[in-house]
Amino acid sequence: MKRMKKKISMLLLATGLAASASAQLPVELNIQLDKPKGKISPHMWGVFFEDINLGADGGIYAELVKNRSFEFDNPWMGWKKLGHASTEGAYLLLNDAQRKGNKRYVRLTNSAGSELGLQNEGFRGMGIKAGATYEFSLQHRSNSSSMNIHVALLDEGEQVIAEAQMPLQSTAAWTETALKLQATATTAKAKLKIWLTGAGTVDVDMLSLFPLDTWKGRPKGLRKDMVQLLADMKPGFIRFPGGCIVEGRDLANRFQWKKTVGPIDERELIINRWNTEFSHRLTPDYFQTFGLGFYEYFLLAEDIGAAPVPILNCGMACQFNSGELVPMDQLDEYVQDALDLIEFANGSTATKWGKLRADMGHPQPFKLKMIGVGNENWGPQYIERLAVFKKTLNAKHPEIAIIASSGTDPEGERFEFLDDKLRAMKIDIIDEHYYRPPSWFLSSASRYDNYDRKGAKIFAGEYASHTTRPNGPGKSTWEAALSEAAFMTGLERNGDVVEMASYAPLFGHVDGWQWSPDLIWVDNLQVYGTPSYQVQKLYSTHKGSDIIPVHRDGQPVAGRDSLYASAVYDQNTMELLIKIVNYNSKPMPLRFALATDRKFAQVAQKITLASKDLNVSNSIEEPLNIQPKQTDIRFKGKTLTDSLAPYSFTLIKLQTK
Ligand code: AHR
Repeated sequence: MKRMKKKISMLLLATGLAASASAQLPVELNIQLDKPKGKISPHMWGVFFEDINLGADGGIYAELVKNRSFEFDNPWMGWKKLGHASTEGAYLLLNDAQRKGNKRYVRLTNSAGSELGLQNEGFRGMGIKAGATYEFSLQHRSNSSSMNIHVALLDEGEQVIAEAQMPLQSTAAWTETALKLQATATTAKAKLKIWLTGAGTVDVDMLSLFPLDTWKGRPKGLRKDMVQLLADMKPGFIRFPGGCIVEGRDLANRFQWKKTVGPIDERELIINRWNTEFSHRLTPDYFQTFGLGFYEYFLLAEDIGAAPVPILNCGMACQFNSGELVPMDQLDEYVQDALDLIEFANGSTATKWGKLRADMGHPQPFKLKMIGVGNENWGPQYIERLAVFKKTLNAKHPEIAIIASSGTDPEGERFEFLDDKLRAMKIDIIDEHYYRPPSWFLSSASRYDNYDRKGAKIFAGEYASHTTRPNGPGKSTWEAALSEAAFMTGLERNGDVVEMASYAPLFGHVDGWQWSPDLIWVDNLQVYGTPSYQVQKLYSTHKGSDIIPVHRDGQPVAGRDSLYASAVYDQNTMELLIKIVNYNSKPMPLRFALATDRKFAQVAQKITLASKDLNVSNSIEEPLNIQPKQTDIRFKGKTLTDSLAPYSFTLIKLQTK
């Protein structure tokens, strides 16, 4: 009889029906703390930053004025002329080809007793907070000492919510002047109004408005609330500046890091490639001013304790667009950009680019250790160009690891071709991208279980689960996040080959996005993390240092009975961290058997993200619909019995002694 029972239960286990058929029997997982399998990379969980969805301009870069230097294709975009705009010559747009990076400016001529001015609409309005202080600045030159500039912030009903004025000095040279305004009301849709009194002519440029309360209080810096969400993740790295933005629609509009450093007013703006990418999400006012440039990216990386991971153009424009190629005999300039970037980041202050870094305020090196060559490029043309970069970079900078693209998809002919070639050329790290439905993430949890351990490491450089229900593609639901959490157990279990991973894209502005889902959503005043953000954060703040095998009947826990699990040990905190996904609509009883000689504290922490409804999400109105809940669990000896909530991601933290 006993043997018969055993046979039946083994049959049920083999067919994967055990848990559903006898929901009362706990599933037993063996945690082999005594047999660590490898090390987790210190960079394991990071963030992917791209200026998409108003991520930089109109997003994390806290500038509130759109088209501050009149350099957009339509120089008056975002601006309205006030006062006697019809007066001949009152408003002139000048183009001075000798001004580096910023050729256009506006000449305003006012007469005694009258007023004229400009109004700026901001990026879908301006986010202004009651009680907060804002700094308005401009560059000007003027032939008059009797002019005043008045500045006001208006709410949606055109009511003044902040006001200040100052005299404009007479000066032949371009001069920067600033004044402060304190707001009396909060609105996400403010406008900036500037007008002149007094007779004279004044040239104006770089009309700018920033909150004083930026990240780390840096003048003209970054939006504090947005950076804080990144810092809270304690990311192991930050990849920048993308994404397709690296490639550009054509080579002229590729991302060139050298044009994004040095004085801000000399950084030449280009159209943002996402401006026209999707006909259903056209964003005609989307440009890259590069106020957030490579220096600021490096600084951001340092601030949040993340390794900088710049991705550079490899001599190819986006193959979804023009696919322009640089002829092989003209590739040197691109390779030189990579060498110079290493000098900018790590070089001594006696070098040309190291000196620029120091002049910008950072004499210490930025500790760059890896560089990406190309984003989502493919085909033999890519391999040909990559080989040139590799040869030079390996010879001159063997200390820098090279990240190379495996194209747009995680399988198929294009991927196979690149994967073979990249391994043959002994590339350090292969960048894989997957934007796939939840079913793919669930069925791919063992993707890396049999990857080659001797060759290249893997960078899961862009991924996100894309659901199609119930609100159409793009909604970052609990279903999407839970499938990512399940897949990430596979990344963690294979942390000896998966070096780094980042969800993409990072930010979406509710009024100005092109691509969805995104990890973090913002409007002009608020910010919230999606369920996927909560998952990413739980992983990245509990990254551990050693991979601990988790087995069920001797096998990794990668989908049987819709259970997914992995574990790490953290040498610093001496914690065992077990992550488990229950992708069932029912609770799942579990018993953990801990194989180790170590002793444990009797109380463990259990942190759970859960929802019975897979379609729920977070939002501006309900930012914490899905959020971690923490409870304590008591256990004795070396076993722990617990029940996982339906559709849940659970982290169990056990303190070893
Ligand atoms: O993350 C959005 C885009 O997806 C990236 O720019 C590109 O690399 C990928 O196709």
